[in-house]
Amino acid sequence: MNILLTGGAGYIGSHTAIELYKAGHSAVVVDNLSNSNPESLRRAGRIVGREIPFVRADVRDREAMDRVFGENRIDAVIHFAGLKAVGESVEKPLEYYENNMNATFVLLEAMRSHGCKNIIFSSSATVYGDPQIIPITEECPKGHCTNPYGQTKSMLEEVLMDVQRADREWNVILLRYFNPIGAHPSGTMGENPNGIPNNLMPYITQTAVGIRKELGVFGNDYDTHDGTGVRDYIHVCDLAAGHVAALKAIERKCGIGIYNLGTGHGYSVLDVVRAFVKVNGVEVPYSIKPRRAGDIATCYCNPAKAKAELGWEAKYGIEEMCRDSWNWQKNNPEGY
Ligand code: NAD
Ligand code: WQD
Repeated sequence: MNILLTGGAGYIGSHTAIELYKAGHSAVVVDNLSNSNPESLRRAGRIVGREIPFVRADVRDREAMDRVFGENRIDAVIHFAGLKAVGESVEKPLEYYENNMNATFVLLEAMRSHGCKNIIFSSSATVYGDPQIIPITEECPKGHCTNPYGQTKSMLEEVLMDVQRADREWNVILLRYFNPIGAHPSGTMGENPNGIPNNLMPYITQTAVGIRKELGVFGNDYDTHDGTGVRDYIHVCDLAAGHVAALKAIERKCGIGIYNLGTGHGYSVLDVVRAFVKVNGVEVPYSIKPRRAGDIATCYCNPAKAKAELGWEAKYGIEEMCRDSWNWQKNNPEGY
């Protein structure tokens, strides 16, 4: 299939492009580069031995999107494009609602008018809020999202399902990612955050490489085995492979599908720090800080549905995630 990747120059999209080509698909990327660098796609192209077609455009630009659909036969869309920083979304709610909602509306309208009715949407574990069931299954009710970023994901899930209910020819897959970390094993591609990282792994790697002085561990008084927050970290290449598996379900005309993409294992902040130090033989100085507003104690999934219905499961463990994150950071201390 030929797949349109919105936001495909970003962290997850660029790794997914590789998995698509490896599986015999091809891709066209549309990205406005608001949070990415086209070098990611050049490097992905080197890995797959093909130049990955890239259009620099904003998904909210209807004319640009019509051109993309007019000039390419698109069989399905993987919709990564969006703003994703939780804290920034609290400070700039309007920017987050405007970008994430309008980009999806324009995309869906363009898809409809060009007869493309297959979409995979990047959703997030954040839609569960403070989850009522651990490990989280897809049946767990969606929770209250404490930030505008999470609200956009939750609302867009509803929009996409309503579109499918109104026209059963649509196939809509909502992939709820847990905590993607890691990088391509080549060490040439990885996560490239702007400024001070919000997420744990890039903060660890930047501390290990000397860009940051020490990691702040946000709280050690949670109800977890060591008091620090527990999450379901998943290697970005496993996550990317999950999209290829979801495309097979689209080929089988799945209607609506909702899947957790995680490993099913929960690791605390200190578990991750220890694994990183052990695997890579580097120091990660840290100190305990107060809890971060909006954080929950524990979040990990039951990935059984994705295994049963998509035939997908994560292959990589925490040590490989730590190894590949470090390999990327140490080879590319300034990012792309
Ligand atoms: P990323 O920021 O690296 O990639 C998103 C890409 O979208 C960027 O390249 C950015 O330039 C582009 N973009 C944003 N708005 C755009 C617009 N209006 N038009 C065109 N391009 C636009 O983020 P990522 O980590 O690769 O995340 C990809 C998707 O997965 C996002 O939707 C994110 O919300 C979701 N997600 C990410 C995580 C995570 O922890 N990384 C977890 C759950 C869900
Ligand atoms: C993980 C753990 C922190 C940084 C976020 C979004 C979620 C999803 C994934 C998009 C927590 C602790 C972190 C640091 C720390 N993104 N931590 N020091 O919060 O689980 O999820 O990214 O959809 O929506 O909320 O990920 O990596 O920020 O934090 O101690 O410097 O690490 O408190 O326990 P989180 P994270």
